[in-house]
Amino acid sequence: MEFSERDNVKYLLELRDREELRKIFDRAYQVRIQYLGPKVYLRGLIELSNICIKNCYYCGIRRSNTLPSRYLMREDEIIESALWAFQNKYGSIVLQSGERRDSLFIESIGTIIEKIKEQTDGKLGITLSLGEQKYKVYEKWFAAGAHRYLLRIETSNKSLYEKLHPANHSFEKRKNCLTTLKKIGYQVGTGVMIGLPMQTVDDLVDDLFFFKEMDVDMIGMGPFLTSNNTPLNQQFPVHFADKEELLKLSLKMIAAARLLLKDVNIASTTALQVLKYDGREQALKCGANIIMPNITLRKYRPYYRLYDNKPCIEENSELCKMCLANRIISIGEKIGYDERGDSLHFQKTKYRNTIKIFYNS
Ligand code: 5AD
Ligand code: SF4
Ligand code: FES
Repeated sequence: MEFSERDNVKYLLELRDREELRKIFDRAYQVRIQYLGPKVYLRGLIELSNICIKNCYYCGIRRSNTLPSRYLMREDEIIESALWAFQNKYGSIVLQSGERRDSLFIESIGTIIEKIKEQTDGKLGITLSLGEQKYKVYEKWFAAGAHRYLLRIETSNKSLYEKLHPANHSFEKRKNCLTTLKKIGYQVGTGVMIGLPMQTVDDLVDDLFFFKEMDVDMIGMGPFLTSNNTPLNQQFPVHFADKEELLKLSLKMIAAARLLLKDVNIASTTALQVLKYDGREQALKCGANIIMPNITLRKYRPYYRLYDNKPCIEENSELCKMCLANRIISIGEKIGYDERGDSLHFQKTKYRNTIKIFYNS
C-alpha cells in the first residue's frame, strides 16, 4: 500500500481489523528502523513556567483559569536542570512554557540559552517550545544557540481551530510562525491533538498532509485529554470516554505519520501514558523515535497541568530517568545516550539546499 494517497491514509485511520492493524504498525516500525536506526533519543523536558497570555479553550493553564498557582522557575534552576540532563547523558533538552512576549521573558530566555550553551561546550541540543513570537525574537534565540522549535498547529482545520480558541488567536499567524522558524534555520516541529471534539477523520488526514506540505522536521502529537475547569471540558463533558479507542487512534496517527514522512523525528508524548500505562512504549513500536523525560523540578510539577491525570507529577528527574530507561529497554529498544538525535529530514534538506546554492553560484 502506497502511503502518498489520501484514501490509503484514511483507510488506516479507520481500520478496525486487529491483525491488519498490527501489520501496518510493524511496517511503520520497520520504516523507522530503516531510516533512523535502532535508537530512541531523549529530550529532557523543562516546563519552566505555567504563566500564559493565551486562553486556548482546552488547556489547564490558560490565562483565565484561576485554579493553578502560577510559577516561573528561576534562571539558575533552569540552568541547573539543563546541566543535570547533560550530566545524565541526555543529548537534548526542551525548554517549554506558557506563552509570554514581554521583553523581560525574551531577554531571560536568551541569557539562559547562552549560559546552557557555554556550560555544556555547545554539545547539548536545545529545543524551544515557547509559543508564537516575533521574527526578531525567534532570530535572537536562534543566535543565542537554540536550534529546534516546537509549535503545534493543534489542528490544520482553520474553522475547527477557531472553535477551540478565542477570536484573538489566529490560525494564520500560527502557521506563519512555522514558516518563519524554518526560514531562520531551526529544525521545526509541529503537531496536533487527536480526538478533539468536532474533529473528523478527514481533519486528521488533512493534518498529516499539512505536516508534509509544511515540510516539517519533527512531529509531536498526542491525544486530546479532558482538562478540568476549561471551557471545552464544560462544553463536551463526556467526550471520548473510551480510552482504548483514543489510544488506538493516536497510534494510527503516529504510524501514518511515519509511513508518510519517513525520515522525520516523531515524539512519543506523555499524554499517551494517560490513556494506558504503556502508551508511550506502544508508540515507539508504531514509528515514534523520541521520548521526552520530564526534568522539571519536582516542586513545580503539580502546577504545569495542561490536562487531567498528567503522569510524573509526584516523581523527580531521577525517578523519571530510571522509569523511562526501564520502559524503553523492556521493549527491546536502545537509548541514544549522549547523542543529539537531530532530525534526519532536516539534515537531508540542509544538504540539498547547500548543493543547490553550490550549483547556482
Ligand atoms: N489535552 C491534550 N493536550 C493538550 N495540550 C494543551 N491542552 C491539552 C489537553 N487538554 C497540548 C497542546 C499544546 C501542548 C503544549 O499541550 O497541544 O500545544
Ligand atoms: Fe497557553 Fe499553550 Fe495552554 Fe494555549 S495550549 S493556553 S498557548 S500553554
Ligand atoms: Fe516519570 Fe515514569 S517517566 S514516572
